Amino acid sequence: MSHRKYSLFDTKRHEAMTSNLTPNRPLKLVFLISGNGSNLQAIIDNINQGKLNAIISTVISDKEDSYGLTRATKASIPTELCLRQHFPSKQEHEQALATLVSKYQPDLVVLAGFMKKLSAEFIYRFPSKILNIHPSLLPKFKGLNTHQRAIDAKESEHGATVHVVTPDLDSGPIIIQSAVSITAEDTAETLGNKVLETEHIIYSQVIQYLAETPQALKSLATLSMQKPKRSK
Ligand code: GRF
Repeated sequence: MSHRKYSLFDTKRHEAMTSNLTPNRPLKLVFLISGNGSNLQAIIDNINQGKLNAIISTVISDKEDSYGLTRATKASIPTELCLRQHFPSKQEHEQALATLVSKYQPDLVVLAGFMKKLSAEFIYRFPSKILNIHPSLLPKFKGLNTHQRAIDAKESEHGATVHVVTPDLDSGPIIIQSAVSITAEDTAETLGNKVLETEHIIYSQVIQYLAETPQALKSLATLSMQKPKRSK
């Protein structure tokens, strides 16, 4: 695995995961998930091992059977369910989700396998605080089925991206990427597993970096909240 670094992420910070906690205040995280929650698990493990200075205030799922909810409960983290079928409209569902998130006053809203596309209204309610991990080397392969698409496109490498969430899907400012080689034997499944393994490293690295670098946390605002200029 290799890492590519972008302006927000200093190479030296990669060592952060092996150092002990800094005296900074732990970052308060709220997770939004829909499924397995292996990224959530990696972050729980790093917090428990003292490698990540963060607290998970709650894990919110929009799917009743998300295994991530079980993982959270096992780790004694509060969970919340916010199901679409409990609300008359998409907007009301999202408003309820936003109300739940704001109840916890998070430093960061961490999307980890959350399958619902958030509206601009939701995103601007938590300015520059929403992070996502996407299984491709963005800007390549936005959206779904990224592993098969990378194989079909005969790419030699593929990977994952942690980025700030903006209203355009999978298009916000990139914080870090991890890259893996695609071999002739790779299937979407084997490639997906290789990429996921790197996701489990880079998401924690970004959060730890932001926990110990308040100016970077602030600069997310400048990067992610630049609204498109109107053309005359
Ligand atoms: C990951 O591949 C992530 O990049 C994508 O959804 C998947 C979530 O996996 N957004 P998990 O639920 O964390 O295991």
